[in-house]
This record gives sequence, C-alpha cells and structure tokens, in this order.
Amino acid sequence: MDDKRRATRLEDRGMMSDAGEAKTGLDVARGEAAPGPDAAAPSRKLFIQSFGCQMNVYDAQRMSDLLGAEGYEETQTPEGADVIVLNTCHIRERASEKIFSELGRLRDLKAARAREGLAPQIVVAGCVAQAEGAEIQRRQSAVDVVVGPQSYHRLPELLRRAGEGARVVEAEFPAQDKFGFLPPPPAAATRRRGVSAFLTVQEGCDKFCSFCVVPYTRGAEFSRPVAAVLDEAKALLDEGVRELTLIGQNVNAYHGEGPGGRAVSLAGLCAELARLPGLARIRYTTSHPNDMADDLIEAHATLPQLMPYLHLPVQSGSNAVLKAMNRRHTAGAYLDLVARVRARRPDLALSSDFITGFPGETEADFADTLALIEAVGFAASFSFKYSPRPGTPGAERADQIDEDVKSRRLHALQALLEEQRQSFNRSMVGRRLAVLVEKRGRHEGQAAGKTPYLQAVHFEGGAGLVGACVEVEIMAAGPNSLYGRLVAPGEVRAPERAARRGAA
Ligand code: 5AD
Ligand code: SF4
Repeated sequence: MDDKRRATRLEDRGMMSDAGEAKTGLDVARGEAAPGPDAAAPSRKLFIQSFGCQMNVYDAQRMSDLLGAEGYEETQTPEGADVIVLNTCHIRERASEKIFSELGRLRDLKAARAREGLAPQIVVAGCVAQAEGAEIQRRQSAVDVVVGPQSYHRLPELLRRAGEGARVVEAEFPAQDKFGFLPPPPAAATRRRGVSAFLTVQEGCDKFCSFCVVPYTRGAEFSRPVAAVLDEAKALLDEGVRELTLIGQNVNAYHGEGPGGRAVSLAGLCAELARLPGLARIRYTTSHPNDMADDLIEAHATLPQLMPYLHLPVQSGSNAVLKAMNRRHTAGAYLDLVARVRARRPDLALSSDFITGFPGETEADFADTLALIEAVGFAASFSFKYSPRPGTPGAERADQIDEDVKSRRLHALQALLEEQRQSFNRSMVGRRLAVLVEKRGRHEGQAAGKTPYLQAVHFEGGAGLVGACVEVEIMAAGPNSLYGRLVAPGEVRAPERAARRGAA
C-alpha cells in the first residue's frame, strides 16, 4: 500500500482539524458498503479514497452507503473497482495538486482495464470538484463525473448518465438539503465502523477568513434540524456507537430547527443528545472563537457526556495578522475566552490550528503567536504554512512571504507545540482516566481506546471490552500513545469524574 493510500486509511477520527490532515495513525475502518439489494446479482466494486477533513470522511461513508444500496460493495484497492471516487480537499494547494497526480495514475489504470472491456468510472467528489468543476475534465479527460459536496446524493443518477456517454459536472449549490435524500447508515456498516462515529450537524461557513476556501466550496452556513440529527444518532447508538463527534466547518454556529420551529444552539443539541441512552461521549469540531456562546461554555461544566476537549482554532497570535485574516477577534479576546471556558471546566484540553507566513506577517507578529501558545498551553494542534488559494483575498495580496521564511516559522512553531503536547501527555502518568475502548490493541490481550482528552491509550487486559468506558491507570507516555493498565473492568458510570480526579 502506498503512503497516500495508507494516510487515508489511518485517519484518527478525533484528531483532524476541520479541513486539516490526519495527525496520528489509528487504523479506522473506512465506510464499507452494505450488500446490495439483490444478493444473487454479481456485486459491483466501489473504491473511495478520501482526502482532508472529518467532513470528507463522513461524506465518503454516506457515498458508500448510497452506492451500497445500489449493489456496490466497497473494496480496498482501485485495481478491480468498477467505480473509483476521489473525495477531494481544496484547503491548501498541496492537497489539491495531490488529486491531479492521483488522477494521472487512475487514467493509466482505466486505460489498462478498458483493454479488457472493464473500464472503471472515475468520480471526483469533494471540494476540488466544487471549486474546479468542468476544469477537472479539461485537465484529465479520464474523469467521468465531477460532483460537489452538496450534490453527492445524486451520485447513482450521475453515474448512470455518465454510463450513457455524458460528461457529468454537478457543482451547483442545490436548493434541497442533501441529507433528506441520503439513506440512513446501514446497521452492518455502522457496526464495522466502530464505537466512535462522526455525525454532520452543520455545513458551510459565513465567516470568510481571508485565507480560506471553505465559504466558496461548502457554501453558506446550514444547520440540520434537531430531529434529523437525533434520528441519525439513535440509529448509530442502536448499532453500538458510544461516542458521537458532531462535525461542521463552523459547528458552534449551529442553530438547527427544533420543536415548534425554534432555533436550537449547539449546547441545546448536545443536551438533547445526552438524553439518548447508551451515548457515553459527545465531542464537536471545529469551532470559531466568536461562536463560543455562554450556553456552550456552561455545557462543558454541566453535561457529563460532553468531553473536556475543545478544538478552537486561533490561527495567529498577532492582532495585525488576525485583522488581515478577517478573523474578527483579537489575541486578547481569545485568551479571555480560554480563561472563561477553563474557569467552568478546569481540566479542559485545548487544540488549535495555526498558519505561518500569512501575507505581511513580520517576525514580531510571529513572536506574538509563540507568546500566545506559551500563554495557553495546547494539548494538540495542527499547523500549516500559508498557501494562497485562488479566489480568496489573501491570495491577492502583494506582500506574500517567502517559502523559506514560512517554513522556518512553521518548524519553530511546531517544535513548541510538540513540546506542549508531549508535556501534556506526560502529565497523565499516574492518573486514572476513563477510557472508551475502541478496538483490540496490537498485542494479544491488549486494548486501545481514548481518554476524555482524545489521547490514544493502549492497555493490558481489556481485549473483550470494545465499546466499554473503563478506568485505566496511565503508566507511561510514548510519543503517540499512552500506556496503562485496567483498574476495573466495569463501565465507568461518570466518566467526567474519573477525568477530573486526574486533572491538574
Ligand atoms: N493556507 C494554510 N492553511 C490554511 N488553512 C485553511 N486555509 C489555509 C490556507 N490557505 C488551515 C487553517 C484552518 C485549517 C483547517 O486549515 O488553519 O483552520
Ligand atoms: Fe474557513 Fe474561517 Fe470559516 Fe474556518 S471560520 S471554515 S477558517 S472561513
């Protein structure tokens, strides 16, 4: 398996930024299609490769479910597939360019299989599809279907049209809510995907940060109605899911329609979800500081299921850069916010996204970012060199920063963040934490799961406990995982209490 393919298979569900890249490698099964409706019919094979954020992981699962209902069965390699979907990410140039080199390889595969009369259909989905539309087929004629993130519910019909010889491009923002057209995740697929599931509750963004393509590729903010989220959550819980990560590009701006047409906030939604039997943990990602409402801060203190972990991107610690980025908050406002959340939830672990080398960033601006990092102390983070994205205001600026300066700052920033991450992990040694067991560990008798703070833990003696939330004493901290021993095999009734006992 090449590295790229491995990277998409090793997505750590909890540890990716809104449109970032996988950070650590926990093997998570990607969506597998349910058996087709006619078991006797020879099944067609589907290969989906997903790049980028959790949103894309979720969308890939839904595409798999959708095509599963049409008789497609998911396969792990493109070679024997009848349909190949690249679910793309447009957030940075490198992510986008990867798609075209991958498509070059797929063109050769398609040509080779066409000689046997078995040419696969190639689909480009996701944000590159949305941003580039028909240009993709101009650059790579082997592509049969281009479909944006708002239209993939029409994939079966689009594939049929392409099968009849049409070159299909569907990159509009349709008026309908695609979620209403997607089948519920099939029970068997949910069970295969494990105890921790993503659930999209919000899409799109109205913030228009000047570096970001998301408002253009995912469109305006949209919140799914509360009832639709609860229905999907119940179906997941029925199949053994214990943890839900509510996802959206700007998830804390959630304002879904609730009973009587009233808008419900993210805190309100979490409270509704917390009432569902079996749900041990709720997480949400990714948030904008300006949408961190008081009721959400309060929920971190009062809702036991809401985990003490907050991904709250700040991007920069310089007020001048934050202004140029159109973030509409200052470094001081971010620090105040962090203090307010920590006052209500003292053991809260924080993570953030950072960009180095935004146009005009000076050494003094960069020093401000390092100072903010020192002041907050992050448990985890994602950091990137600024990548000018066509059509965004940042790309138009004349004062772009040299690549080597961006790289130097990125390395300095990452060294500090890594130090903080390791020190946070080391601070767990000797503590007893509630661990949600996700799978068997690498060795016989070992199990693997997550702490409330989203750290991977391997521990002895828990092989049969997948799905349980158990108490584990942390014995050691490795570079990417904690190691512990099972204290008692019973379910921890109040995971937040175990977590707090260990808190600083
Ligand atoms: N260049 C670099 N990083 C970017 N991000 C978004 N757009 C860009 C860009 N043009 C980063 C931000 C965001 C994360 C998902 O990706 O830090 O929070
Ligand atoms: Fe992009 Fe800013 Fe919206 Fe986040 S808040 S998705 S960075 S525009």
